[in-house]
Amino acid sequence: MKNIVLGVCGSIAAYKSAFLVRLLVKAGANVKVVMTTDAAHFITPLTLSTLSKNPVLVDYFKADTGEWNNHVELGLWADMMIIAPATANTLAKMANGLCDNLLSAVYLSAKCPVYFAPAMDLDMWLHPATRQNVSRLQSFGNVMISPGNGELASGLYGEGRMAEPEEIVTFLENESKKKLLLAGHKILVTAGPTYEAIDPVRFIGNHSSGKMGFAIADALALMGADVTLVAGPTAQISKQQSITRVDVTSAAQMLEACLSVYPGVTACIMSAAVADYTPANVASQKIKKQDDSFNIELKKTTDILKTLGEAKREGQILVGFALETNDEEMNAITKLQKKNLDFIVLNSLNDAGAGFAGDTNKITIIDRDLKKNTFDLKSKEAVALDICNKVAQLING
Ligand code: CTP
Repeated sequence: MKNIVLGVCGSIAAYKSAFLVRLLVKAGANVKVVMTTDAAHFITPLTLSTLSKNPVLVDYFKADTGEWNNHVELGLWADMMIIAPATANTLAKMANGLCDNLLSAVYLSAKCPVYFAPAMDLDMWLHPATRQNVSRLQSFGNVMISPGNGELASGLYGEGRMAEPEEIVTFLENESKKKLLLAGHKILVTAGPTYEAIDPVRFIGNHSSGKMGFAIADALALMGADVTLVAGPTAQISKQQSITRVDVTSAAQMLEACLSVYPGVTACIMSAAVADYTPANVASQKIKKQDDSFNIELKKTTDILKTLGEAKREGQILVGFALETNDEEMNAITKLQKKNLDFIVLNSLNDAGAGFAGDTNKITIIDRDLKKNTFDLKSKEAVALDICNKVAQLING
């Protein structure tokens, strides 16, 4: 969400505009509020200008300087216009092209998508005139954020309450997402290490920080994907709140979590550093030190990526990682083919700045046709974007 013009009309629901402005700003939007003079009786322009950090416009003219408030400029500035609350009167003006105040003039000038959240009493809402105005606005391509049911300011009970600010923001975020590259696609990402228990206090693990996988999950979510992130033990936190996180500890738990999500996803990116071996037996009590040497019998874990590769259905995209120290490309290609991947992301420990713990990475992407693309050393966020762009390219053909 970028530049938003919020139109506020004269309804008791205008008190909710303060919360709406705050939530929109929190979601990263630049908000400019245009109010009707009646709206300014319900909530002060000062409240909304303080919250939006922009002057609030009410009149066509600035009384003190005689300058006009340029509705055309505002209409062009907006990436999105929201009228909330939208009263019966303003809806009627919008539906009929009247522009006797600044708000309706901005509406007529706006070239961006327009959303309106009606708020009025039950009978006004049900009146055929209002119904017709709403249909007319929808036929112009304006989108209604439907009112809810409940007690109305009049004391009546029924439909007409403005949607709650949280609902409006979620609605708008979903609308923006629909236009994104990966909208409507579920994607599974794994990240971090796995810990394989030896006894109740010890485990076999690795130095994976989870940074790369978390950056990939964030990038996919920003591209509109519905992301499930299966994470091994890590201190990382996702930046994108829409991500569904499933925490696991061991390779066996990661396998189980992946198998339950995988059938429903368009793509899976396996960036976790999964243990290849796990103790054959886990001691139920803490193991006491005894002899000078100590052996632990290990058994192979299930290769999750290979298992997913075998279950891959037509059109599903599967991506793996290879961290190599020697014969890098040959080893990566063997993994790509053995695990039925669409592409593999190769990190070489011989490249400075690549690997587990740091904030940078240097990758080569090798695809099914063995086409190779080597990238510069970049931040893990930038590397994530390269990987996710490749996934989006494959998904969208
Ligand atoms: N992987 C997996 N399940 C495992 C082990 C690895 O899904 N039990 C995945 C990793 O997430 C990564 C890729 O497989 O995407 C790594 O391939 P792998 O052959 O396991 O590489 P290494 O673990 O480095 O093992 P090797 O000793 O064969 O190089």
